[in-house]
Amino acid sequence: MEKYEYFSGTPEIGIVPRAPHAGPLLRHVFEQEHGRGGFAGKVSHTYHLYPPTNWLPDETRSLPQWAPGWESPLRPVGGIHHVLGVAPAEPGRDVYRGMGRLVANATAAMNVTVPRAPMDYFFEHHSATMVFFVHEGRGTLETTFGPIEYKKGDFLIVPKGVTHRFELSPGAHYYWMYESFAGDPEKSEAPTTGQFITHSRSDYRFPRSLDTRNESGRFEIIAKVDGVYTRRVHPTHPFDVIGWRGEYLPYRFAVEDVRPLVADRSHVPPSGHTIFRLPGCYLCVFTVRSVEKEGMWVPFFHKNLDYLETLGYHFGDFFSGGGVVGPGMVSVHPVGLPHGPKPRSLQAFMDGANAGVHNEVGIMADFANPAQVSELALGLSRPDYMNAWAGYTSDPRFAYAPGRLAEARALGERLADARDALRPPEDEGRA
Ligand SMILES: [Fe+2]
Repeated sequence: MEKYEYFSGTPEIGIVPRAPHAGPLLRHVFEQEHGRGGFAGKVSHTYHLYPPTNWLPDETRSLPQWAPGWESPLRPVGGIHHVLGVAPAEPGRDVYRGMGRLVANATAAMNVTVPRAPMDYFFEHHSATMVFFVHEGRGTLETTFGPIEYKKGDFLIVPKGVTHRFELSPGAHYYWMYESFAGDPEKSEAPTTGQFITHSRSDYRFPRSLDTRNESGRFEIIAKVDGVYTRRVHPTHPFDVIGWRGEYLPYRFAVEDVRPLVADRSHVPPSGHTIFRLPGCYLCVFTVRSVEKEGMWVPFFHKNLDYLETLGYHFGDFFSGGGVVGPGMVSVHPVGLPHGPKPRSLQAFMDGANAGVHNEVGIMADFANPAQVSELALGLSRPDYMNAWAGYTSDPRFAYAPGRLAEARALGERLADARDALRPPEDEGRA
């Protein structure tokens, strides 16, 4: 070993030339650039045993109706809240052939998949970077850059164009998948709270163990461009990579690494829980955290005037749900339509209850308007979700009462100007 060691500052694994497109190694192995922004954005280079264009002539096919649920037609959602029941598993469906679109706008989409079957092909999404959330299941995401093990509660980021397949471990699997069509997810950071809230880049887990395959056979790759699926067949294994370098990479991020912003004396708005920003969409995690001590611990009633809101329930007693929703379900709250705590939750708050901890994990993705809902989602919609707020018309505490105005005025005199109990006691010895 030399006296001192160095690293280059650019992630790299395995056998790579000293710099991209340079050096004698390129006369012996095949360099491929994964380039964003017309090669002016993020890039990675992979070094292959065989040319990545060695597809078999005459084997390329367009595959109509390959993933029908993924292309479920979209409809305007109008002014009705929906809650979508748990999506059913369909026999024979794998991660992508069973993908079901739920909600989409021009630049982002939310999907659900309940895979039962293995993938006997490799997949490339040529239109979107994908963010998976593993609600249930474990396995290995095999990629050109190496394998990534995952389990329940993990996010998996699969950048646009990266060749991959899911190797599912035994047991149930249930994933939500968010597509970003116009750019990669960016880590969300507020200027005043810095780069370690709500998580750190060091929480990301990139592949490091190359599993190079020098194999011959028939290797099918399905590529998706918009709603068109195309199969091509290669005579060598696509994971014939002996090294890579770059920053355009798949990675894993565990939900327990979200370290949320909490406030004792106010209510952190949903946007304070954002982990990723996507063009036209922001992705938040509501995770296990302290309940506000003096501030409102239920959400305020709100109209989100620019975004349709989706919330996937992962586990726990969702604090505003009032017992209406369960794990695996997704609520869809359209742009502009007021919502907030269900009556049971609000009653608990008004009665002075405080659980101490919000014991829950929910994944929220909000889609800039105009956003639409799919026919597949409407098929999962539970009837009567709008009745979840029915207590506000039937419970005497919330319903019309002739004396309500006078009561509010009297309370206002006493409470509207009340300050938080903060000031130190008056100094009695002061003159
Ligand atoms: Fe909301």
